[in-house]
Amino acid sequence: MSSAAAARYRLAAGGAIAGTLAVPGDKSISHRALMLGAIAEGETRISGFLNGADCLATAGALAALGVRIGWPGATEVRVQGVGARGLTPAAGALDMGNAGTAMRLMMGLLAAQPFGSTLIGDASLMRRPMERVAAPLRSMGALIRTHEGRPPVEIEAARALRAIQYPLPVASAQVKSALLLAALSAQGRTCLTEPAPSRDHTERMLRAFGVQVVKEGAALALEGGQALRGTHIEVPGDFSSAAFFLVAGCLAAERPLVLTNVGINPTRTGLLQILQQMGADIRIRQRPPPAGDDAEPVADLEVRRSALHGITVPPALVPLAIDEFPIFFIAAACARGESVVRGAAELRVKESDRLAAMAAGLTVLGVENQLLPDGLWLRGADALGGGVLDSRGDHRIAMAFAIAALRARTPLEILDVANVATSFPGFVELARAAGLQIELI
Ligand code: S3P
Repeated sequence: MSSAAAARYRLAAGGAIAGTLAVPGDKSISHRALMLGAIAEGETRISGFLNGADCLATAGALAALGVRIGWPGATEVRVQGVGARGLTPAAGALDMGNAGTAMRLMMGLLAAQPFGSTLIGDASLMRRPMERVAAPLRSMGALIRTHEGRPPVEIEAARALRAIQYPLPVASAQVKSALLLAALSAQGRTCLTEPAPSRDHTERMLRAFGVQVVKEGAALALEGGQALRGTHIEVPGDFSSAAFFLVAGCLAAERPLVLTNVGINPTRTGLLQILQQMGADIRIRQRPPPAGDDAEPVADLEVRRSALHGITVPPALVPLAIDEFPIFFIAAACARGESVVRGAAELRVKESDRLAAMAAGLTVLGVENQLLPDGLWLRGADALGGGVLDSRGDHRIAMAFAIAALRARTPLEILDVANVATSFPGFVELARAAGLQIELI
């Protein structure tokens, strides 16, 4: 085992939460700001950038493709756009680390280039399905090879891409975004329809870069050949990172806990609705509406200790809460009564099999549960047990189990936590400031 894989959290049982916290910038928006900035004309300034390992992998790949990126501050970035045809071949394979979003969106960006590229990643990413992006890109004329559907992804120099009409088989913002990036270079009008809404950061941001994206009901249309103009992107705090503290506040806030400057794009905040339906006291203080209809909405969120009850998660909320199920299961484990999620088979192909990882950990915590092919059933408990929990190298599983310590009777140890740095650098420090008794060992 490498020393990174051996990184563990140790948490004392119990504790109380309070304070005012600012979580780091949004991961999805930070990836997109770099990529769109890279192919824009002129400079793009990014403020509030998430300098976690995933977004740094995107920055590294773009730098290898000839894009100059400057860092006037830890979360301030300047991207010198090279325009639609300005990327140059990388010297070697592009290593996207643990970042599925980076790999899938880069596939869309690279499919249209007049040179070949190879994309690789860490052990988790090398197991993740890539055909969901490769197959529709091939129907646009791209030449892409995967290996039994997985990375390495080998992309050959493109012939001219053509627009497609494509109904997405799964609600996936990564697939949608990869196809929109390829559509920018395709001849004609690409039209995508989604079976259910997924996060819409790409559409919003394309408009901020001056691209026309037409939305009609569930359909999105983009005419190829449009140029992007460099702009200023202000990245709000990541709702997916705030989610851990929203649940921590519900479980153990001794005074109201305030999370400032959090992105509340409605395609991301399914967990907010789920928690409110479970009885959570969360108040939303929306910040002044930002300029432009497409700007990302931002709010301060105030959460109080709440007596939660179990829930059958409405299927329509599943794609809108897709990254929040690890921490949802901890909320449900501490709620009165049963909870169930179905229609969430996507969770099996995230950074880990999140259904299996959570079911195993809940069992260690003494929570009665049943793993389903596309979800999980569980019965809430008055208090949780303690013990050793395996995060399986998945950042969100590690952080969810850390929050569970607030209701545990005995200390917790969480294994393989180094990847928390992919999405939430400074998690331990912020959690400690909020009142968790957590140490990295
Ligand atoms: C993301 C989309 C989601 C999400 C991932 C980030 C994005 O994946 O789980 O963490 O930034 O587009 P899918 O699009 O595969 O559902």
